[in-house]
Amino acid sequence: MSKSLYKRGKYHHGLFQIQNQLVFDKMVMKDSFRLSLAFLLLILHVSSSLASSDSVYDTFLQCLEKNTNQSDQVSNILYSPTNSSFSKVLSNYIRNARLNRTTTRKPLLIVTPTQETQVGAAVICAKTAGIQLKIRSGGHDYEGISYVSDVPFIILDMFNFKSIAVDIADESVWVQSGATLGELYYEIWKKSKVHGFPAGVCPTVGVGGHISGGGYGNMLRKYGLSVDFVVDAQIVDVNGKLLDRKSMGEDLFWAIKGGGGASFGVILSYKLKLVPVPERVTVFRIETLLDQNSTTTDIVYKWQQVAPSIDDGLFMRLLLQPVSSKVNKGAKTVRATVITMYLGTADQLVSLLGKEFPELGLKKEDCIETSWIDSVVWWANFDNGTSPDVLLDRDLDSANFLRRKSDYVQNPISKDGLEWIFKKLIELGKTGFVFNPYGGKMSEISASETPFPHRAGNLYKIQYSVNWDEVEIEIERNYTTQVRRLYSYMTPFVSKNPRSAFLNYRDLDIGITTNGKDSYQEGMVYGLKYFNDNFHRLVKIKTAVDPDNFFRNEQSIPTLPSKA
Ligand SMILES: Cc1cc2nc3c(=O)[nH]c(=O)nc-3n(C[C@H](O)[C@H](O)[C@H](O)COP(=O)(O)OP(=O)(O)OC[C@H]3O[C@@H](n4cnc5c(N)ncnc54)[C@H](O)[C@@H]3O)c2cc1C
Ligand SMILES: *[C@@H]1O[C@H](CO)[C@@H](O)[C@H](O)[C@H]1NC(C)=O
Ligand SMILES: *[C@@H]1O[C@H](CO)[C@@H](O)[C@H](O)[C@H]1NC(C)=O
Ligand SMILES: *[C@@H]1O[C@H](CO)[C@@H](O)[C@H](O)[C@H]1NC(C)=O
Ligand SMILES: *[C@@H]1O[C@H](CO)[C@@H](O)[C@H](O)[C@H]1NC(C)=O
Ligand SMILES: *[C@@H]1O[C@H](CO)[C@@H](O)[C@H](O)[C@H]1NC(C)=O
Ligand SMILES: *[C@@H]1O[C@H](CO)[C@@H](O)[C@H](O)[C@H]1NC(C)=O
Repeated sequence: MSKSLYKRGKYHHGLFQIQNQLVFDKMVMKDSFRLSLAFLLLILHVSSSLASSDSVYDTFLQCLEKNTNQSDQVSNILYSPTNSSFSKVLSNYIRNARLNRTTTRKPLLIVTPTQETQVGAAVICAKTAGIQLKIRSGGHDYEGISYVSDVPFIILDMFNFKSIAVDIADESVWVQSGATLGELYYEIWKKSKVHGFPAGVCPTVGVGGHISGGGYGNMLRKYGLSVDFVVDAQIVDVNGKLLDRKSMGEDLFWAIKGGGGASFGVILSYKLKLVPVPERVTVFRIETLLDQNSTTTDIVYKWQQVAPSIDDGLFMRLLLQPVSSKVNKGAKTVRATVITMYLGTADQLVSLLGKEFPELGLKKEDCIETSWIDSVVWWANFDNGTSPDVLLDRDLDSANFLRRKSDYVQNPISKDGLEWIFKKLIELGKTGFVFNPYGGKMSEISASETPFPHRAGNLYKIQYSVNWDEVEIEIERNYTTQVRRLYSYMTPFVSKNPRSAFLNYRDLDIGITTNGKDSYQEGMVYGLKYFNDNFHRLVKIKTAVDPDNFFRNEQSIPTLPSKA
């Protein structure tokens, strides 16, 4: 997440008006017969879906009452589209404006449990009703699969499950799935200035999706992934039963450390081991422009060698973005930005990079030496000096329009290759890259230790990134085409057979399942990309714990094809 790739900011006035206008314009273009027919169908559709959602609401409410014995409480945790706060509850944890259109399919119901028994009851009641259940924690899924579906669905929204219990003597923490990473970092910091946790850099990301998807952050090279520090968990299974590590068994415990929680159950909490952080760490950001600085290509080329192999305490993220040229009016160029986290002092870092990466020209003045928690705030793009309290801000109901894809690079790209790629970035005009170096601890952990398989042999991961503010659907089409084209241009430079992808960078382009009779074949397509050979073990576990595939979504782990 960088200032320009992940722009903060509230959005938007007048979305409804603009979209209604668009819909209206389209309708006017049709002849009047079709117009009135469409209008009639629209009314029928709206009224019948309201009626059915009313009865779904009543049935579901009664079921919750029966399965919790809380007739007085459950009506406070169940929303139907007729409840006045339904839209607000829905959009609070939408983190991609692309999936917040009036045309985006809405849930029949939203359940916002505050107690474990209510989670179990919600699972049982959705199963009884035969309706798909989508589980949402922080809502950061790039394709919104925690809150959007093509089929009728209910959202189980976990934002109330946010308790965090840090135990410094045990160097561990129990954190509930609806807590945010920012809240987790903050609570650790309140108890200790020399402990931290290796997870993502965006403070509003939810623990539930992030950790079950294999989360990583800027201590990846020193410590590995978030899932490498999970020591226990609580999950509600398909029968509504609450399990911990011991009662779920090692297979299911393995699966929810990177296989995606949503295929297996509802994760209530994780127990995590804390990691040591020094009292002083160092961060910096250096930019260079292709058309102003002849060393830009050399820097990017050299970065590929240095970033994945240098001292494990150093994480150097590289951003490549098309930007307006300052020397050539109207033209574009490429900006390379190196953003760094170093678990040590500025003097050590300047001397280390002076030796190993002199092309970067790092000076002490470029460095900010600070505490770990302030580095978290800095990485989240707040100004130097902002109080860590900002990590507690859930920043509700705000988002850009965005699209992401991912790749892994296993061999350095040549200078010619890089220059060709730069040309393509400029040609396309908007989509950028984030390169995240691997190596260090990531190369020491076996590919089957957790479901996340992309360990040794990967130099860096690419995130394709395009953000925009315009509501018009044509703009979305343009940027979608762009990012897909760039992905296609990158084919010769990235991993193949399978072309690997990162589950937390959800991308429905790489394959989906309709959860019908071909779900195993469909699931294999994206499953091998996300999990390589670990896919097969995930399928076996899925088949054992959820044989009827209740916990399903567009990219869930399928069950084995039935023998019948
Ligand atoms: C701005 C931004 C920055 C990001 N930065 C990073 C980063 O630095 N590192 C990184 O690794 N990733 C990063 N991500 C990706 C992020 O880790 C994933 O999107 C992650 O899945 C989000 O978790 P969530 O709970 O917020 O999302 P949600 O959308 O709530 O959930 C994501 C998926 O997990 C499932 N799920 C959620 N909660 C539960 C639960 N309690 N039990 C079972 N299943 C559940 C959902 O059904 C869905 O399939 C970033 C995303 C964004 C938008
Ligand atoms: C609800 O109460 C009934 C009657 O006391 C009892 O049999 C049942 O087990 C209870 N159910 C739950 C979920 O507590
Ligand atoms: C939704 O509306 C129903 C009917 O008016 C009401 O009983 C219920 O309490 C409302 N739900 C919430 C969460 O406010
Ligand atoms: C180019 O970048 C290098 C390394 O950051 C720096 O030393 C140099 O001053 C830059 N040159 C120009 C013209 O910006
Ligand atoms: C960052 O803030 C700290 C404390 O507020 C200050 O000492 C330091 O000089 C600042 N650094 C930069 C680069 O602004
Ligand atoms: C979603 O749309 C609503 C209605 O236009 C708007 O109020 C809200 O801010 C939007 N939220 C996000 C996250 O885009
Ligand atoms: C698509 O977006 C790019 C970059 O913003 C722009 O240059 C181009 O004109 C757009 N194309 C269309 C058809 O809108």
